[in-house]
Amino acid sequence: MSIRYDQKARTYTLMTKNSAYQMKVTGFDYLLHLYYGERIPDTDLSYLLCPTDRGFSPNPNEAGNDRTFSLDVLPQEFSSDGSCDYRLSSIEVKNGDGSFAFVGKVRKHRIYRGKNKLEGLPCLRALEDDTVDSLDIWLTDAVTGLTVILSYSVFEEKDIITRSARVVNEGEDTVYLNRIMSMTIDFLDSDYDFIHLDGRHTMEREVTRAPLSYGIQTIGSFRGASSHQHNPFAILCDHTATEDYGRCYGFSFVYSGNFVCKAEKDQYDQTRVIMGIHPKHFSYQLKAGESFTAPEVVMAYSGQGLTRLSHLYHRIYRENLCQSPFVRKARPVVINSWEAAYFDFDDEKLLHIAREAVDMGVDTFVLDDGWFGSRDSDCSALGDWIVNPQKLKSGLEGLSQRIHELGLNFGLWIEPEMVSENSSLYRAHPDWCLQIPRRPAARGRYQLVLDLSRQDVCDYIVQSINEILDRTRIEYVKWDMNRFITDAWSAIAEKEKQGEIYHRYVLGLYHIMDRIILTHPDILFCGCSGGGGRFDPGMLYYQPEIWCSDNTDAVCRLKIQYGTSFAYPCSCVEAHVSVCPNHQTGRITPLETRGVVAMGGILGYELDSTQLSDGEKKLCRRQIESYKRWYGLIADGDYYRLTDPYRFGEYVAWQHVSQDKTRALLSLVVTEKESNNAQRYVRARGLDAKRFYHVSGFPEVFSGQLLMSAGLPVPGSLLQYEAIQYEIWSADTEKEEAPSGCATMP
Ligand code: DGJ
Repeated sequence: MSIRYDQKARTYTLMTKNSAYQMKVTGFDYLLHLYYGERIPDTDLSYLLCPTDRGFSPNPNEAGNDRTFSLDVLPQEFSSDGSCDYRLSSIEVKNGDGSFAFVGKVRKHRIYRGKNKLEGLPCLRALEDDTVDSLDIWLTDAVTGLTVILSYSVFEEKDIITRSARVVNEGEDTVYLNRIMSMTIDFLDSDYDFIHLDGRHTMEREVTRAPLSYGIQTIGSFRGASSHQHNPFAILCDHTATEDYGRCYGFSFVYSGNFVCKAEKDQYDQTRVIMGIHPKHFSYQLKAGESFTAPEVVMAYSGQGLTRLSHLYHRIYRENLCQSPFVRKARPVVINSWEAAYFDFDDEKLLHIAREAVDMGVDTFVLDDGWFGSRDSDCSALGDWIVNPQKLKSGLEGLSQRIHELGLNFGLWIEPEMVSENSSLYRAHPDWCLQIPRRPAARGRYQLVLDLSRQDVCDYIVQSINEILDRTRIEYVKWDMNRFITDAWSAIAEKEKQGEIYHRYVLGLYHIMDRIILTHPDILFCGCSGGGGRFDPGMLYYQPEIWCSDNTDAVCRLKIQYGTSFAYPCSCVEAHVSVCPNHQTGRITPLETRGVVAMGGILGYELDSTQLSDGEKKLCRRQIESYKRWYGLIADGDYYRLTDPYRFGEYVAWQHVSQDKTRALLSLVVTEKESNNAQRYVRARGLDAKRFYHVSGFPEVFSGQLLMSAGLPVPGSLLQYEAIQYEIWSADTEKEEAPSGCATMP
């Protein structure tokens, strides 16, 4: 068992291959946190606690005259509220008597093999050959009977520990749960940097790293979705941590709605990190006997720097998260109509684009927004999922058939969570959207948000979308969401339950995805929210890939994909080649470079193929051929960041390395070219130091050590925004013939 309870010491020790986690039950039955870090022998670590009388830090009544026992100072596993601990609390309640206190004491525990599902929520699952053990600890407030069950699952080989919490009202009075964190973790020190992924629409997941200072550092979203602004992922690491050195802790939230992650450095240089649903406007009514399940946090520890931490997340999210069979299949190369036609198309125009795309070698034609109702702009028709016969004369079925006759698969865009005021749906059911009485709802992109907390609304969505999917031959669906939530109020919920609407929306979303996505395992679903506005593990449970950003500029994408790579594997990052001047930035980059950058994820095209020259189409075909040959390496290999685009401006480089280290692909883009510039070298990573490798374009054979230590010269002939890809393969393996022209070869 990877989880052990020592009855004498009253410690719980969780062991993964390379990490350990320990908690201890104290004399008064409080649950303390003792350790998370490098794997160590399983001994009682309570010697780390040094009881000290700390002025102005109160002592629980049962501590009697012992002034050294204070919950304000001791490291806690789940901090109680309204009693003794002034730091960030894990829970906030309003009890039947009007008080706010929750004091949880350990009542019992259970250790078992395997891992339970979370009710109504996405979470990691154990595969057959995974060793996973779980632990539940019951913390009960003796006065109110309210109980919090902390759940831990240990993925031993994969160095992952998951956490979640369930609150059960075992008392008699109705309780309001105003905050419940899925994870609280206390560290006895505070010399850490806090790294998080923040940004904005079209510039998601920028990397911010700053040392903790006294007080509280917060990231989060109150937008009803995980958001472009902050990703539900954070790292705490040594100040000295680099890609391959130092202690790093990762916290990733498997949830697609409001979230918060806070790190507090306290008066005694200790650190508390909490992660969970954002408590703002959250108030969940729990009548006697009712319960609430908080979503899962996936924790990882690396004692060898950030790359290893990323690899832990990449592996677990590749293998243990997504329910779709496509997660293990090679994904098609799509051409998407959005930047090619926007709302201005008919079936002949679409077929023309598709026909030319056949020559490029794409697999799937995706019809984006604009095919339904009176949708000639973004002002109307959301909710009316009926084809516009003026645009598609033979309907969706007819178009799909003709696309298939060209030898392509057919994909379709939908945005099921929204409604336009100018739509038949809104006219029939104005109360189906989120809006507060007497306050006209705010618009976003001219649209309103459907109230997914309502079963009848969910049923309508499921029925109308499933009807299309069942009637039409469709192999791919892009599921979009183009505004965030405001006016979170439901026409049918009682007033005491309006504080549940943000969360119930997300539950409704998961519920409709259960009934639409999981019932169509032959369709590849791709997530999107104006690009990466809902790029989170909750969505990745249903959709194996997500449109990474509405920004298709190759140079901006370098940063966006760099940030994304800290938590998410390349196999879930949709990246498309678009035209130049780029529609978002006006920048001009070579088509070769756009292909190299898009191959940092799931390659596709987002352009009007009828406007490409024969030469450009040929180049796209070669890109696709190369990509397909490298697909296994990109999707399943280990990803290495070779440069930090925030610290070094001249070029950005990254590398995919096969698990057996026999093959690698090193890609580099020049981002800031100067005249007569200094010679630069790019050092490979992740190769086998003792093995010998061929490198495309070089006659000699290099040792892995040499490629990682001395590196390769970056050709001075590369101009601004030009790219190069080096294919690296072990001298004792045969390399298949390399298609040329995908990238500049020296
Ligand atoms: C936002 C998406 O990110 C775009 O790719 C496109 O699908 C538009 N929505 C369509 O409205």
